[in-house]
Amino acid sequence: MKTYKIALLPGDGIGRDVTEAAWSVLEKTAGSSGFSLEGTRLPWSCDYYLENGSMMPADGIETLRSFDAILLGAVGWPQKVPDSVSLHGLLLPIRKAFVQYANIRPHRLLPGVQGPLRSDGFDILCIRENTEGEYSGAGGRIHQGTDNEVAIETAIFTRKGVERILRFGFEQARARRGKLASVTKSNAQKYSMVFWDEITHGLAAEYPDVDVTSYHIDAMAARMVMAPESLDVVVASNLFGDILTDLGAAIQGGLGFAASANINPDRSAPSMFEPVHGSAPDIAHLGIANPIAAIWSGAMMLEHLGETAAAGKVMAAIETTTARGIGAIPGKDKTDAITASVLSAFG
Ligand code: IPM
Ligand code: MN
Repeated sequence: MKTYKIALLPGDGIGRDVTEAAWSVLEKTAGSSGFSLEGTRLPWSCDYYLENGSMMPADGIETLRSFDAILLGAVGWPQKVPDSVSLHGLLLPIRKAFVQYANIRPHRLLPGVQGPLRSDGFDILCIRENTEGEYSGAGGRIHQGTDNEVAIETAIFTRKGVERILRFGFEQARARRGKLASVTKSNAQKYSMVFWDEITHGLAAEYPDVDVTSYHIDAMAARMVMAPESLDVVVASNLFGDILTDLGAAIQGGLGFAASANINPDRSAPSMFEPVHGSAPDIAHLGIANPIAAIWSGAMMLEHLGETAAAGKVMAAIETTTARGIGAIPGKDKTDAITASVLSAFG
C-alpha cells in the first residue's frame, strides 16, 4: 500500500485544534481510499521558541525535506514572541527554502454558508506569489531609536520569479474558465509593477486561449466585493495576494472557510498546506475554532499527492456538513461537532 509521510506542524493557538481535526479526517479518508498516511508531529511553535531560543531546530528545514508534504496549523503568539520573529523563524523560511512559489487560495461559498455580500455565486482562485516581492526580507534599520532613524524594506521582483508565477496562473486559468486577472499597481509603482505587467503581456501571446486583464490592486479590491462572479483566476504579488486573500476569505463567509496550498510546482521539495487564518490566541483551546479551512487544506494536500478521488471525498464531506448547517455559521458549532459531522458524512 502506498504510504505518504506527512509532517504535522500544528504550531500555535487554534493551529493545534484545527490540525488535529484535519488529521482525523485525512486518516479516515486514507483508510477507505487504499493508501496510508504516516504523520510525524513536530512541536515547532512559539512555546518551542521559549524553551529553545528558536522556532525550529537548526536542521529543521533538512528534517522537513524528507516528507512528502507538510500540514501546518498556524504560527504566531505575539504575547509570547514578536510576530516578526516567529514568522521569520518558521513559516516564511519554509515557503522560501522549499521554493513553494505558488500559494493557491480558493474563494467560493460552500453550500449553506452565507457570505456578507448579495452576490449568490462566485468561484475565484487566487494565486499569490510566495517567495519574493514585498516579503523578500531585504532591508535594514539605521540610527535606531534616534530622530534620524531610517527603515528600508525593498521589494524584490525577479524575471524568473514573476514569470513562473504568471505562467502558473495561466495554466490554472486554462484548466478552469479561461480567465486570468493579473494584479499590480503599475500606475504608481513604475519599476517593479510595470515589469510585472510587461511579463504578463509577453506571456499572453503564448496563451491565446486565456482571456487576460490587468487590474490595479485598489480596483481589484473593489471588484472582489462588487462583482466577484466576474473573476476566475487572480494572480498577485506576495503582499497584494496576502491582502486580497483575506478579502476573499471575508466574501466566502469568513476566515474559517479559507484554505491554502503553498505549492512547489517542480516537486523538488515538499509543498505545505495550511488554513489562511492565524493562530487566534483569544480563542485558542476553547474548542470553538472552525476546522473547515484546515480540512479543506488537507483535501488540497491529497490532490497534490495525486489522490484526487480521496480529495474529492473530503470536499464532498465538507459540503455535506455545511449544507446540513453544521460549521456554516461562524461561532455556532464547536470544533469537535464540525469534525464529527465531516467524519460521519463519509457514511
Ligand atoms: C498568510 C499570513 C502570513 C502571510 C503571515 C502570518 C506572515 O497572513 O499566510 O496569509 O502574510 O503570508
Ligand atoms: Mn494573510
